Amino acid sequence: MLQHPDHSALVQQLTAIGQGHLFAFYDQLAPTEKTELDRQIASMDWPLLAELIKTVVLNPESVKLPENIEPAPYFQHVPQDAATQEKYRQAQAIGENLLKKNQVAAFVVAGGQGSRLGWDGPKGTFPATAKKNKPLFQCFAEYIRAMEQRFNCTIPFYLMTSTANHRASVDFWMQHNYFGLPELQVMFFSQDMLPAVSLDGKVLLETPGTLALSPNGHGGSLLALHKSGALADMRKRGVTQISYFQVDNPIVRCVDPLFLGLHEMEHSDMSSKILPKVSSTEKLGNICLVNGKMTVIEYSDLPEVLAEQRTADGQLRFRAGSIALHAIRCDFVERLNARGFALPYHRAEKKVPCVDMATGKTIKPEKPNAIKMETFVFDALPLASSSIVYETDRIDEFAPIKNAQGVDSIASSRQITTQRNSQWLQAAGIKVPRKPDGTPDCTIEIAASFALYPEDVKLKAAKIPAINAGDALYLH
Ligand code: UD1
Repeated sequence: MLQHPDHSALVQQLTAIGQGHLFAFYDQLAPTEKTELDRQIASMDWPLLAELIKTVVLNPESVKLPENIEPAPYFQHVPQDAATQEKYRQAQAIGENLLKKNQVAAFVVAGGQGSRLGWDGPKGTFPATAKKNKPLFQCFAEYIRAMEQRFNCTIPFYLMTSTANHRASVDFWMQHNYFGLPELQVMFFSQDMLPAVSLDGKVLLETPGTLALSPNGHGGSLLALHKSGALADMRKRGVTQISYFQVDNPIVRCVDPLFLGLHEMEHSDMSSKILPKVSSTEKLGNICLVNGKMTVIEYSDLPEVLAEQRTADGQLRFRAGSIALHAIRCDFVERLNARGFALPYHRAEKKVPCVDMATGKTIKPEKPNAIKMETFVFDALPLASSSIVYETDRIDEFAPIKNAQGVDSIASSRQITTQRNSQWLQAAGIKVPRKPDGTPDCTIEIAASFALYPEDVKLKAAKIPAINAGDALYLH
């Protein structure tokens, strides 16, 4: 049984660091609520919080850009010469071999709150696909299953949640029988949480008996992989490489042999997939070299003069946009944890519902009232001894769902997916009805079990019925 922490010691500790207000309503709480609050408070890293309040909340440094920023070199999607073509052929074989030897784990970070989407539940449960409304989680499970069948291998799947969505995520997978994956192959663990802090440095309560907690950023995954035992579990299974992706993209290639193969071949600790940005303002982190080290500079932090620079052939000079897909060596994560590492905390001003200390009532603020602090996984890139970047094809694997409407919404994601699927069908000689503006005049959903690559569609072309304008087709 969990012990009740020493309440008076906690009061003393928090008062000493100016956070004694967290017990303001303690006397009004029921005994179980008192225990809960004491436990929550005892579980926080207060020395770290006190430091972050001083440095990130009260005295934030303006983002200091290093002087020596260069565009990062990357492997182009289409090889430009015979030598690169041969290298990609070898990389593909190496990646496939890693899969066949069960050395690759899939890893999705799904601890975020998905607040921009306005979905009441874990983002992975969001209905994503165009005809069957398959949730994001199912898209990943089916992709992994199809790759396992293709390479006759096992791909253990790790999901990072946060306390806010852990139970609901696990229940969802259970209710759906793990979407066809063996239960023992799907592992869940939670990341750490941090409280939001008022603009004047006071930790916020969400209710009189609970802190206003939120996940500590996807950078927390590197610590959580270790703390949760997931990394040790990977080792037990013989896994050496982690294929890291975000929860928001239904057509993500959860494991990609070519990317994994290049990463392995180049002895990279942590590699990244990019897309050439369509414009200088596209909201993708910029992968750059800073003093020779691979680094992501967020789109909001790259000065306009750099973002707008063009090369002689008219392309953006800084065009490598991160789509937050990484290949990470297990031993890199182990090394980081063994020697202790600290990723920088980023500050975000947010509207956080919190208790009004005068009334004890929870209020929903109209304007930002709090600072949330998060670490980002890509801040580990400069810690890697070696790191490569590979360009993927936009339509092939980037259809993120981040917003309720407009750019990166469910509507744009479904459009991109239908467009991709139309290209696959057309390449297999199948006629796709089009609108006057050239976009497909139909909806096409392709299950991973039917095709993972355009070539798979060619092999099954005879099975595909004629498509009429307005049809919604599901190939599985
Ligand atoms: C992110 C990247 C951006 C990249 C873009 C590509 C950041 C800060 N920016 O933007 O560089 O170009 O994706 O699509 O990451 N998550 C957790 N725990 C947390 C916070 C987030 O697991 O504490 C997970 C989310 O569930 C999600 C992913 O991390 O899967 C991305 O988080 P989000 O905050 O939505 O990042 P974006 O703004 O989309």
